[in-house]
Amino acid sequence: MDIASFRALLAPSGQAVLSEASAADLSEDGLLGTATRLRERHDPALVAAALTQVRLRERARAKFGADAGRMYFTQAGLEQATRASVAAHRARRFAARLDGARVLELGCGIGADLLARGRAGLAGEGVELDPLTAEVARANVAVFGLDAPVRVGDATKVSLDGAALDEFDALFADPGRRTARGRVFDPRSYEPPLDAVLDMAAKVPAACVKVAPGIPHEAVPDSAEAEWISVHGDVKEAALWLGGLAGDVERRATLLSSDIDPEVSTLTPQGLDDPDVRAWGRYLYEPDGAVIRAHLVGEVAQLVDGGLADSHIAYITSDRLRPTPFATAYEVEDVMPFSVKRLRAELRRRGIGVLTVKKRGSAVDVDRLRRDLGFGGRKAGRGAQELTLVVTRVGRDPVALLTRPVPGR
Ligand SMILES: C[S@@+](CC[C@H](N)C(=O)[O-])C[C@H]1O[C@@H](n2cnc3c(N)ncnc32)[C@H](O)[C@@H]1O
Repeated sequence: MDIASFRALLAPSGQAVLSEASAADLSEDGLLGTATRLRERHDPALVAAALTQVRLRERARAKFGADAGRMYFTQAGLEQATRASVAAHRARRFAARLDGARVLELGCGIGADLLARGRAGLAGEGVELDPLTAEVARANVAVFGLDAPVRVGDATKVSLDGAALDEFDALFADPGRRTARGRVFDPRSYEPPLDAVLDMAAKVPAACVKVAPGIPHEAVPDSAEAEWISVHGDVKEAALWLGGLAGDVERRATLLSSDIDPEVSTLTPQGLDDPDVRAWGRYLYEPDGAVIRAHLVGEVAQLVDGGLADSHIAYITSDRLRPTPFATAYEVEDVMPFSVKRLRAELRRRGIGVLTVKKRGSAVDVDRLRRDLGFGGRKAGRGAQELTLVVTRVGRDPVALLTRPVPGR
């Protein structure tokens, strides 16, 4: 899709083609049939642009829910966009600290964060290097009736000393981490590079920079608050909060229970000693990934009155069942030295038909283990019972735990 076709799509005749394409059968065969019919009456480039949007909107539902049906995307823009629930959480943090502030976004993509801040009452602007992506962001801003101009330009060349920047109270940046060479992990390879963004952030009163959840703690600036965010147990990203936006803690884990109307749970460091190392108890707790990334496993161990079976592995064990959003609880039925032969016999004896395998601190290949235990591919075991097999180690000893998830935990 080029800019001319996208602009044509936004014109009234393009909108008519888009609604006709959206109302048709959305299966791939259906879309191909629709494309053939539409091409008889309309410019093929316009029809292709409409079909692209219909496909992208379908894929975007996972991130944007019903709003996806009104928004515009590029493929890369959709892949890189912040999901709506996380963007809304971030926007609420901006609004709580900087009520009515104007925020400049460096590299705004298709505008998912821009929209969320606009909806939270924050005015601002975006700068975007790619002209088509900028055009798409403008269209999205217009769809929601927001006032957030998007300029095409290189964010690293935004004048920080010029009058233009004085108009803004804060910066936000979500540097690209998927380049033409694929996904990048080194913050120096972000686009723009993290160092360049942090240099700019240091020159304004407040800033937030979205980064990969795997960011090493050493890469977090001393004065920043780092926030790791998960949605329904999946770690999505980290954000560095700087200057007037940083909280009074150096790190936190924020858990959103779901994408729609999520409950938000926050955990911060409590200044605790390392958790106790102890024998396996009746319960195993698997901390949420955001808790692990934020190095807050000890805080969860305290919440559940537990300790670690191995000081290097983030499985908490406790004799008590303490409901917490920060970890999933499993009831431990058996603990045994890891042995495929013994496990196979035990699963058969227990009549296990559905097996979930989890591992931490073990080099075991889970697919191969499932096959070796008679649960390869779609094939289930012979029985009707369900079991969660946890493979880990204590010191150098490989251990298997036969567990069952505690309902609702
Ligand atoms: C991860 S995306 C932003 C996504 C956005 N937060 C959202 O949720 O829709 C990063 C964007 O930065 C843009 N970009 C990369 N380098 C840039 C630069 N030097 N100046 C301006 N934009 C840049 C890319 O084109 C990409 O659209």
